[in-house]
Amino acid sequence: MIIRTGTLKDLKNKKQKFSALTSYDAMTAEIFDQAGIEVILVGDSASNVILGNKDPIAITLQDMISFGKAVSSSVKSALVVLDLPFGSYEVSATQALENAIIAMKQTGVAAVKLEGPKLEQIRALTQNGIPVMGHVGFTPQSVNALSGYKVQGRGDNADRIMRECLEIEAAGAFAIVLEMVPAKLAEEITQKLQIPTIGIGAGPQTDGQILVWNDFAGLSEKTPSFVKRYLEMRELLLEAARSYRAEIQNGSFPPIEKNFS
Ligand code: KIV
Repeated sequence: MIIRTGTLKDLKNKKQKFSALTSYDAMTAEIFDQAGIEVILVGDSASNVILGNKDPIAITLQDMISFGKAVSSSVKSALVVLDLPFGSYEVSATQALENAIIAMKQTGVAAVKLEGPKLEQIRALTQNGIPVMGHVGFTPQSVNALSGYKVQGRGDNADRIMRECLEIEAAGAFAIVLEMVPAKLAEEITQKLQIPTIGIGAGPQTDGQILVWNDFAGLSEKTPSFVKRYLEMRELLLEAARSYRAEIQNGSFPPIEKNFS
């Protein structure tokens, strides 16, 4: 079954939870798609986990397009969403529309995601046929303004976050990521909105959940406290690379049966 933006709304209405993972390459995207993951996000977390930056500020639209093309090339069912990177949509609705069109044309993704209550931008995109996923709470592209990786929406800020979600929904977004907000607030937002919410560090009551795949698979050295590591891939790779090196040193790799005659 091909997952479309409307499928997520149907799942919400049927109270069926859905899953999302990030991916930045053809191989992991193919695996996650085969596993039935409903949404694959080409996240600008690629800036950190692929390009080695300390935050998502540096990644460019061109970088994102390369990752988006790779992911789209191997996905058959999942809804593929691409993050519009920092600097590609903030200036105006026109800038957002022009860059989203470039991204959609060059990658084949089905939707884009942008951070914060950028209502004019969301309206411009959705009115021109580009589905938009919103993102509120901790928004990594604003890490400097938010003074680091911190939970958002505690105390008085809860009302602001609720308002932003309602505005983003009214502007036409088809779903909203809630990142690092208190579980109770995420539950209230999920109940109030018609569109699906996707939580990351937002408790169990959102309609969907998302994780950065490198965290979920335990490839990242350190993971945020809300992450569950479903695999210890870092350890496995380290062990495999050590065995490979040792076997080359002791002459047991490549074995005779691997030789071409
Ligand atoms: O870039 C990303 O990976 C994201 C997720 C954390 C939601 O935006």
